[in-house]
Amino acid sequence: MGLLQDVSPINDQLADIIVRATDPWIETEKDMAWIKVLWTGEESGRWAALFRWNKGYVAPPHKHLSAAHTFILKGKLQVRDGLLNAGDYDYEPNGVLHGATTALEETEYLFICDGPVLFYNDDGLQSYLGWEELHRMREAAKTA
Ligand SMILES: [Fe+2]
Repeated sequence: MGLLQDVSPINDQLADIIVRATDPWIETEKDMAWIKVLWTGEESGRWAALFRWNKGYVAPPHKHLSAAHTFILKGKLQVRDGLLNAGDYDYEPNGVLHGATTALEETEYLFICDGPVLFYNDDGLQSYLGWEELHRMREAAKTA
């Protein structure tokens, strides 16, 4: 006999969120870098995005203020003392410092992040990227 349990959701507003392959990318650096925001979690601060960088793009040094999962879909990234190739996975722990990251080829990767990433240079803190910034970017792109 099966478990007697009401499986109907309390929240009847629940629905999948689908981002189509054909949905547009948002350019973040002219002719060099794009992002496609897949999901932002307003309660958890988590987010998911695709990044696309042209060969030669260099992302600035950053500190992860939360853990992140990176999966390389295509291309090749120079990360610190190593390379990430298509099919490679990288877990980036909360608190880790990362130097500049360079796209050695046209590269796309899936990034699933538990919170914000803080960017800095020799002058100090520069910017951070979290779910609110991504949400605003996505909304601005819709109206552009
Ligand atoms: Fe990183």
